[in-house]
Amino acid sequence: MPIFGFDLRQLGCVIICWTELIVDAGNLGKMGAVLVTGALGQIGSALVPTLVRAFGPDAVIASDIRHPTSAFDHTIPYELLDCTDQDQVLDVVQRRNIGTIYHLAAILSAVGEDKPQAAWHVNMAGLAHILEAARLYDCAVFFPSSIAAFGPGTPRDGTPQVTIQRPNTIYGITKVTGEMLCDYYHARFGTNARGLRLPGVLSYSAPPGGGTTDYAVDIFHGAVRGARYTSYLKPDTRLPMMYMPDAVRAMCELMAAQGSRLVHRNAYNVAAMNFTPSELAAAIKMYVPDFVIDYKIDPARQAIAESWPRSLDDSAARREWDWQPGFDLDAMVSDMLAHLPLTNP
Ligand code: NAD
Ligand code: SER
Repeated sequence: MPIFGFDLRQLGCVIICWTELIVDAGNLGKMGAVLVTGALGQIGSALVPTLVRAFGPDAVIASDIRHPTSAFDHTIPYELLDCTDQDQVLDVVQRRNIGTIYHLAAILSAVGEDKPQAAWHVNMAGLAHILEAARLYDCAVFFPSSIAAFGPGTPRDGTPQVTIQRPNTIYGITKVTGEMLCDYYHARFGTNARGLRLPGVLSYSAPPGGGTTDYAVDIFHGAVRGARYTSYLKPDTRLPMMYMPDAVRAMCELMAAQGSRLVHRNAYNVAAMNFTPSELAAAIKMYVPDFVIDYKIDPARQAIAESWPRSLDDSAARREWDWQPGFDLDAMVSDMLAHLPLTNP
């Protein structure tokens, strides 16, 4: 797998070659280091190494509320940072001379429904402090919204870029409010905030952090461990999904895009594939013929999934910053299984 990076930031252009996909991740904001919050989570674990390859190890600061585990690359600068503490956020941004913030710290949908007050506090106070730091220190901000920013009143098939957004989960409410707060900071203070409505993101390297789409990662671990998996979603529950290399590339490409082209800058629908648990099981069975799926439905996560889109219209992202996914269902399944050790009998 060719992985290399050139730091050409002075020219406003950084080229990363990752899993044979070319990414232009430059033009990230004013000169300065890149801060990633929630860096130990599922997406941060993939994003940080990509940014390090692009900008070098001294230009990327990983941070999280937790201490890093032994799996973390300890050559990368690290800050213990609770985003709900405004003083801590301002201190890190100033002391580390931060120019761009990828704000990933959050509580996800399923955990959020168990702890709604904590989800509101972490997701909203965290984002408010990051945007304030960005305003004061002139940083660019990436905000990951989600398909959860839509709700039961939204058209579920080919969900348009601009449509009804009345989510009924606390996580979704924080995401749609976050989109609006980013809009406000851009309109009121000129803050260079940009965002994506990510589908469920799948990866082999780091476990997901308590979402509704986690089954689509867990199923692969079940497939390689014992060729079995019990799904908590019904067989025909269709959701939009994306493989991690595409998700990381989408974030980098959006941050690199020419600002004058971005009409929907803070909340782009991005799509790659959509499938149901039974379709994913059938795709896995092509590689693990003995694989068996059964179903024990979790009513809470089933209700969340049924309030979300089944597929997204991402034509605005394609038009405004040339978004193109690289992985479909079969390519994703084949790559996931190639990277997970096959230990089933
Ligand atoms: P995750 O749960 O795996 O990671 C979140 C990280 O945030 C964790 O490492 C956690 O320790 C950290 N964190 C929690 N509270 C914090 C605080 N107060 N201060 C600092 N760090 C804190 O989540 P993820 O899957 O990596 O998601 C990253 C972002 O992308 C989130 O905003 C999420 O809503 C969004 N997103 C994720 C998906 C997905 O499928 N994974 C889809 C759409 C959007
Ligand atoms: N994948 C996330 C979740 O299930 C959606 O943002 O919570």
